[in-house]
Amino acid sequence: MIEFSYRETAHISDKKIKELAKKLQPIIDEMKAARADGYDSQYASLECPYDEHQVAMIKQLVSKKRRLRPSLLVVIGIGGSNLGTKAILNILGVKGFDVMFADTVDPDKLHLIMMEMDHRLEHGKEVMLNVVSKSGTTTETIANFKVLYSLLKTYRPNNYRDYVVVTTDEGSPLAEVAEEDKLDLITVPKQVGGRYSIFSAVGLFPLLLARIDVEHLMFGARTVIEQTLTEQDAPAIVSASLLYEYIQKEYRVHDFFMFVARFEVLGKWYRQLMGESIGKNEQVGMLPTVSMGSTDLHSVGQLYLAGPRTMFTSFVTTREFSHHVKVPSTLMMDLVPMISGKYLTEIMGAVANGTKAAYADRENPFCSYTFTAINAESVGMFMQIQMLQMMLLGKLLGVNPFDQPEVERYKEQTRKLLS
Ligand code: PA5
Repeated sequence: MIEFSYRETAHISDKKIKELAKKLQPIIDEMKAARADGYDSQYASLECPYDEHQVAMIKQLVSKKRRLRPSLLVVIGIGGSNLGTKAILNILGVKGFDVMFADTVDPDKLHLIMMEMDHRLEHGKEVMLNVVSKSGTTTETIANFKVLYSLLKTYRPNNYRDYVVVTTDEGSPLAEVAEEDKLDLITVPKQVGGRYSIFSAVGLFPLLLARIDVEHLMFGARTVIEQTLTEQDAPAIVSASLLYEYIQKEYRVHDFFMFVARFEVLGKWYRQLMGESIGKNEQVGMLPTVSMGSTDLHSVGQLYLAGPRTMFTSFVTTREFSHHVKVPSTLMMDLVPMISGKYLTEIMGAVANGTKAAYADRENPFCSYTFTAINAESVGMFMQIQMLQMMLLGKLLGVNPFDQPEVERYKEQTRKLLS
C-alpha cells in the first residue's frame, strides 16, 4: 500500500541504519511494554487504533446526529485538534454534507463561515458544530466557538444544543461547561498529545460523520505499529534514523515534497508533528517544510537544486490518481510534442521521477514514500509511520517528543494581553 525506499538515495550506509535501529531497541521495548498499559503511558496514542469501544461509542453519537440531517459541519479547533481531520477529509473526501474549519481568529475568515451558517439556517438547513480542544482553554478555539454557538442559538433557540458536540480532555474547563450546558461530550485521554490524537475522539467524530472508512484507517495504523514493534527495518525506524543522521550533519530543513495535490494539508499536519516534537532547543531541530509537486518546482526548485546543502527531502508520490485525464493528440501537436496522447498520471510520474533524478545527480539526500493506492488504509499507515518516527527521533535526540512548552507560553502571554 505504501512503498518506502531510501537505499540508493539517502546516502546513509546500511551499517549506520542498523546501528541506530539497535540503539532504538530499548525504546521499542518500552513501547511494547507500554501497550499493556493502555492509555496510562507516554505512548498512550498507540492505544487509539486498538480502542474499539471508543469507535463504537462515537458511532452511536454519529447515528444520533445524522438523524438531524446536518448540511454543514463546522469543526472548531486548532493545531492537533483539527489538522489531522482536515488532512484526511481533504484526501478521502466528504460524503453527504460540507465541512468548514474555524482554525484562526481572522474575523474575515470567520465571517465567511458565519455567512454560510446564516444562509443555511435561514433556509431550514441544519448546521452541526464540533468544538475540539484538549485543554479546553485555547483562546482562538473558544472565541470562535462562542461566536458560532451564539449564532446557532439565535436561529434554533429551542434545540440548539442538539447541534453541538464537544471534544475535550476529561475534566477540562470545556468539559465542565459542556456538562453544565447539557451538550454532547466526548472525551480524549489526557496522555494522548494533541498532535498524536488523530485516531482518538478528536478525529473520530468528524471522520465518522463524514463516512470515512475508519475501520480501514485504524487497520492501517495498527499494521504499522505491529511492524515497527517487530521489524528493525520498518519505515518509522529507518526514517527516524535518516533524519537523526542528517541532524547530526547539521542539515536544518526536512522538506516533504508531495506530488499529490490533495496531500498539502497532510504536509501541514506533519509540520506541526515535527515542529512541536523536536523543536526543543538551539542544538537540535529541523524546520519542516511542505513543497507541492509540480507547482513548487517553478518557485523553489532552483533553490533546492543549487542552494545550501542543508535539506533532507521525503518525496511522496502515487501510482494511482482517482481520475484519468488525457492530453489530446489532435490539437497543437508541435507544442511539447512528447505529451500528446499521454495521461496526466504519466506526465506527473515523469515530473516526479525527473525531480528525483536531478536530486540524485546533485546528491541531495532523500527517501521516497509511494502510495500504490490512496485510501483509508494507506492514509492510516502513513500517518502512523510519521507519528512513530517522531517519537523515535525525539528519543534519539534526547528531547521530549510529547510536550510543547513554548506553545503554552504564547497561549499564556495572549491571555495576559487580553485580560
Ligand atoms: O500538540 C499539541 O498538543 C498542541 O499543539 C495542540 O494541538 C494545540 O495547541 C491545540 O490545543 P487544544 O487542543 O488544547 O486546543
